[in-house]
Amino acid sequence: MNSLTNKHIILGVSGSISAYKAPDIVRRLQDLGAQVKVILTKGGAKFITELSLQSISKNKVHYNLWDEDAKLGMEHIELAKWVDAILIAPASANTIANIALGKANDLLSSVILVSDTPLLIAPAMNLKMYQSHALQDNLSTLISRHIIIIKPESGEQACGDVGIGRLAEPLSIAKQTASQFINTKLTGKKVLITLGATIEAIDPVRFISNHSSGKMGMALVNACIEMGASVTCIYGNITTILNPKSNNIPIISAQQMHTKVMDNITGQDIFIACAAVSDFFVKNAKNQKIKKDGKNLILELLPNKDILADVCKLKEKPICIGFAAETQNTLKKAKKKLKNKGCDAIILNDVSNAYFGFNVDENEVVFLSQNLNKKIAKKSKKKVAKKILEIFIKECL
Ligand SMILES: Cc1cc2nc3c(=O)[nH]c(=O)nc-3n(C[C@H](O)[C@H](O)[C@H](O)COP(=O)(O)O)c2cc1C
Repeated sequence: MNSLTNKHIILGVSGSISAYKAPDIVRRLQDLGAQVKVILTKGGAKFITELSLQSISKNKVHYNLWDEDAKLGMEHIELAKWVDAILIAPASANTIANIALGKANDLLSSVILVSDTPLLIAPAMNLKMYQSHALQDNLSTLISRHIIIIKPESGEQACGDVGIGRLAEPLSIAKQTASQFINTKLTGKKVLITLGATIEAIDPVRFISNHSSGKMGMALVNACIEMGASVTCIYGNITTILNPKSNNIPIISAQQMHTKVMDNITGQDIFIACAAVSDFFVKNAKNQKIKKDGKNLILELLPNKDILADVCKLKEKPICIGFAAETQNTLKKAKKKLKNKGCDAIILNDVSNAYFGFNVDENEVVFLSQNLNKKIAKKSKKKVAKKILEIFIKECL
């Protein structure tokens, strides 16, 4: 089954009589799980109102390249950052010519030039227009640029002529759009991922933390989203960029992370505990900066609650993957963690080696489950994340 779960689609509606079908296309895309924003061309606005498309898409309709209310006036850049695929349906002969020429004379053509996402075009026009050399040459140019053409259908046209040029059916258009994305067993699943380092205050200016950058967890967030999952990301101190497509919840301490995980765990299918959570917090952390007075300062540390173990104990527990960062007897300790916490898999990270693990871009891990002990050799965290999920899908789903 094709799915657009989590996907952001821009629907460009241009000046064809079949623009009246655009709300139906929006609905079919939404049925497959997409969020849809519409860009209406000048011609498109002659055939369908902004209000109908706004009501159906539940998003503001965009049409003005010169919108002064847009963020820094650069709506074409903002939309290009947001979008996963652009679909033009119906695509008029004029809009197709604009794209073939690489013009940037309106919002739609400008977004297309800025964006590097898949572009699908569903032409709709009179059969003579469709068969014209100019239009066919333009379509060939688009195909040579790997733009996907959704073929029009044959039949009776609005003008009374019979032949090719009728807009393809909305459901077929939506399905062809969905087929641009990988669908996996993660598609439609809800995944909660923790990542980054927690911070345990000593006083308002000092803290205890660790070297975690959040890069491995973020690679998992990105890979899950790419595979069609809905991701909630609970993050501590990180040195990496958040994915705007996940529900991002910041925390500082381990106690806050525990609370936010428990607040959000109901209904999740999968829990990935990738955060480097402090095992201890400082008893009686001070509200004012501690002053030196020549004497020793003794901090008493108390154990934090174990987030992974507590999630694993839930009556309706999601499938749980934990991370174990170890420096010695790594395999033995990771196996013990898998058993004691009752989780479904453990990803073992040997952090005694400075080249992998914390705060670097590459990693080498071992995927451990009850029946499997599989090494994932050194590669980028992006590739390691994909490999972990591939094995997880095979072993645990
Ligand atoms: C009543 C009417 C129907 C039209 N239907 C189509 C059509 O189905 N396909 C098409 O390519 N152009 C059609 N056109 C011409 C386009 O609307 C025109 O080329 C316009 O400039 C397209 O603008 P746009 O590409 O910016 O949306 C039609 C024009 C009129 C007046």
